[in-house]
Amino acid sequence: MPDLTDHMPDTSFLEKSMDLLKNAHRVHSFVLDCEGNPLSLGNNGYGQLSSARFFPFEYREPIGGLLCTADDEKILDAAEPHIRVCMEGVNTLLQRELEIQQMSSEILDISEYINFLFQLEQKLLGIRKLYDFCALLVSEVSGKIGADKALMSVRDSGDDTISIYRNLSSGEAAGIMMQEPFSLALNKKDTVLSTLKDGTSVLVSPVVVKEGGIGCIAFLRSPEKRFFTAYEKKLVGIMNHSISSTVETLRLYDNLKQLYLNTVKSLAAAIDAKDPHTHGHSYRVARYSMAIAKELGYAEELIADIEISAYMHDLGKIGVSGALLRKPEKLTEEEYEEIKKHPYFTGKILEPMRLPDFIVNTAVQHHERIDGKGYPYGLSGESIIPSARIVAVADVFDALTSDRPYRPGMPVEKALDILCRGIGTQFDRTMVGALLTALQKGERVKELEDIYPSLNLTDAALFDRFLGEWFTEPAE
Ligand SMILES: [Fe+2]
Repeated sequence: MPDLTDHMPDTSFLEKSMDLLKNAHRVHSFVLDCEGNPLSLGNNGYGQLSSARFFPFEYREPIGGLLCTADDEKILDAAEPHIRVCMEGVNTLLQRELEIQQMSSEILDISEYINFLFQLEQKLLGIRKLYDFCALLVSEVSGKIGADKALMSVRDSGDDTISIYRNLSSGEAAGIMMQEPFSLALNKKDTVLSTLKDGTSVLVSPVVVKEGGIGCIAFLRSPEKRFFTAYEKKLVGIMNHSISSTVETLRLYDNLKQLYLNTVKSLAAAIDAKDPHTHGHSYRVARYSMAIAKELGYAEELIADIEISAYMHDLGKIGVSGALLRKPEKLTEEEYEEIKKHPYFTGKILEPMRLPDFIVNTAVQHHERIDGKGYPYGLSGESIIPSARIVAVADVFDALTSDRPYRPGMPVEKALDILCRGIGTQFDRTMVGALLTALQKGERVKELEDIYPSLNLTDAALFDRFLGEWFTEPAE
């Protein structure tokens, strides 16, 4: 049963007081637990029980009290002021104990929050995309504070809005964000703990970067549950304060990436412009390459790198004479040797840019062949980086299906026939197969949606035919 000793580690004050009551006031006293059982504390013996008074200890739950006995009521009357002084002392000690307990539990909460924030930071460190960052943040913090619903809405560097909704539809989220706590948080530039019109408890934090408020993050708890506490508000506030700089960095990073990609695209367009007949070639090769990589299940980051490589694959043509590139007649052997240098030049141009090897090698190796008869290095089979084998297929498919001065763009069927016949010599079987399955899906593949309609395609069933003919294992 709960008693005083559970909550007061040092009982010497009480024991001295009990001695004093006995020796100076002839009052025997006993400490009782919450059910009235005596403890051995003070060791006073039971004495006379003819006159007795009970003084409860003041605590948040019943923990018993002090039972004082004497030979008669007069003795107790005379001693009562002294007993009350003694009880006041004990109750003050109990209050202090309560405060210490409260503080310890708060310190524990805070240290748990600090630990959570540290773990969260570790998880967020490796993230490079603003969307992924927001999604992880919303999910982790919701779990920690027991939010039923959550949302985050921030503007990215291109002024597009990134929205993360947890257990909320976009319509519900829009309605919630119109409510007062949101405008209040944005105005105060601080975390707000409040309730929505339907009694939902809400914690809203504005996301503020150098240029000002760019959105908010909010956590909601159903009306039938307890409200968020001041501690949960503190946690969200600290978390929000510490993410602002990362959000800023990710937005800048996105911006730089966009700038970088635009520069690459302009460079590619400049190369394409050297030869008016290859207009848009780099763009289309990038699209086909991305579609193939996606079909093969490549990670988004790798697909983004392949896109850059594909845009830059012919960068080395800047070192080849424009007259030669535009020549409609068949090239002499010497001229062809000159053209063959362009992937090597691509490597030389990219070298000082300190780009990842993956991007450079993909671009440099796009004319290598599986049988080793390609250029510039004559690599073969597995020694050609897979992404270069992808760009090789995309490059030839676009070259065949686009109009050239000496011939119109080939029908898709003819181009696929050439690609399939080149499997194992010029092309990698897997990459050709992936192009076929991507083309079969057509405009449903996001990467192909704007180039697919311009293909000379008369029979959509031809992909099935090619897949059946070239990619089905013969029955035993
Ligand atoms: Fe090329």
